[in-house]
Amino acid sequence: MSTKKKIGIGVISLGWMGRLHARSYRTVSERFPELDAEARLVVAADPVEQARRTATQDLGFERARADYRELLADPEVEAVSICAPNYLHEEIALAAVEAGKPFWVEKPVGVSAEQARRVAHAATSAGLVTAVGFNYRHAPAIEYMRHLVRSGALGRITNVRVWFIADYNSSPLGPLTWRASRKRAGAGVVCDLMSHGADLAQYVVGRIASVTAITDTFITERPIPITTGIGHSGFEIGDEVGPVENEDYVGMLVRFDGGVVGTMESSRVSVGPRAEYVVEVYGTGGSARWNFERLNELQVCTTADAGPVHGYTRAMAGPDWGEWSRYQPAIGTSMGFDDLKSVEAAQFLRSVLTGEQRAPSAADAWCAAEVDEAVVASAADSGWHDVAHVDLPTTFDA
Ligand SMILES: NC(=O)c1ccc[n+]([C@@H]2O[C@H](COP(=O)([O-])OP(=O)(O)OC[C@H]3O[C@@H](n4cnc5c(N)ncnc54)[C@H](O)[C@@H]3O)[C@@H](O)[C@H]2O)c1
Repeated sequence: MSTKKKIGIGVISLGWMGRLHARSYRTVSERFPELDAEARLVVAADPVEQARRTATQDLGFERARADYRELLADPEVEAVSICAPNYLHEEIALAAVEAGKPFWVEKPVGVSAEQARRVAHAATSAGLVTAVGFNYRHAPAIEYMRHLVRSGALGRITNVRVWFIADYNSSPLGPLTWRASRKRAGAGVVCDLMSHGADLAQYVVGRIASVTAITDTFITERPIPITTGIGHSGFEIGDEVGPVENEDYVGMLVRFDGGVVGTMESSRVSVGPRAEYVVEVYGTGGSARWNFERLNELQVCTTADAGPVHGYTRAMAGPDWGEWSRYQPAIGTSMGFDDLKSVEAAQFLRSVLTGEQRAPSAADAWCAAEVDEAVVASAADSGWHDVAHVDLPTTFDA
């Protein structure tokens, strides 16, 4: 029998992310043995009966409840995941703070910067650690890119290109889910995908200071689903259609603190790229490029390599990059998307155990939300907008 410390976990909402959080907690004991801890999946909460059945029968939860308030009131729950649609994040996170429970919440935190601000301040005032689902940070290649930038290996950073181009809603027959509702999602692709892009840019380069943006909605109505699905899949659609209330596309120019400039672009309806999430950083001494579709690779070119075969080196993840060696024991083998979440679960549990903020924090999410808010404002009036200052420490400033 294990002598490790058990941490009682509650997961709220058992859709795509809730199931992934649950699976990720289970990996921590083996992948991060030095924590000497293991997650105990105590309670799941979801109003959908089938989700509750999956929680107890397939994911290993001891019990399941329809109302998340019962989960938060459970004395055996010591840490909480919040994986509900965006409009519920603030309400649930503030209830978690009230219950004195540290939480790992999915991005974006809420449907506005104001909601993200309230959550970040409430957690900080209560002295609670948090985590936010900015999982792409944990790609070993991104960690290594950040190291290249911060160590000066690419010289003075001059410009950045970030694009998050997906096809998950490219079919006009794609269902009208909560993601297309202003009330339940907030902005569209700006909140959904570009919140990741804003966080990655800030994690690798630094805070974004101002933006100008255009947005558009290319598919303005969609069929209303007649059954629920998970994430973007599994919905059956009926004959009725409803309006898409938020944007499918955003294009932005950005300025960072310190003068770096850049372009950022995101779409949820592009035909071709499946999940082409790209970060490129250019400096006076070199550049580095990463694409999520090639998660384990980093392209690097520096002036030190100048010569007749000057060009990009395609490097593959290995022991010197991030947490790769915890997942793969042989060079050339690859980590996957779910592993990034496993790293996040470990960072969260480490924070819970030590009281030291390790994972992307609610303040980091507020920072990304202020970028999103400035983007939406700029798209409305075509001007440049300063990103409102976030007066809490972030993990990427460190
Ligand atoms: N980090 C990432 O890469 C990533 C990827 C996908 C989604 N997300 C985020 O995760 C969150 C959830 O997205 P998803 O794709 O898992 O959604 P989903 O639609 O698959 O699941 C949502 C779940 O919430 C449940 N729910 C609805 N009302 C509820 C309530 N009142 N109380 C408790 N549960 C309730 C639903 O029954 C469903 O099980 C969103 O904020 C989304 O932006 C993050």
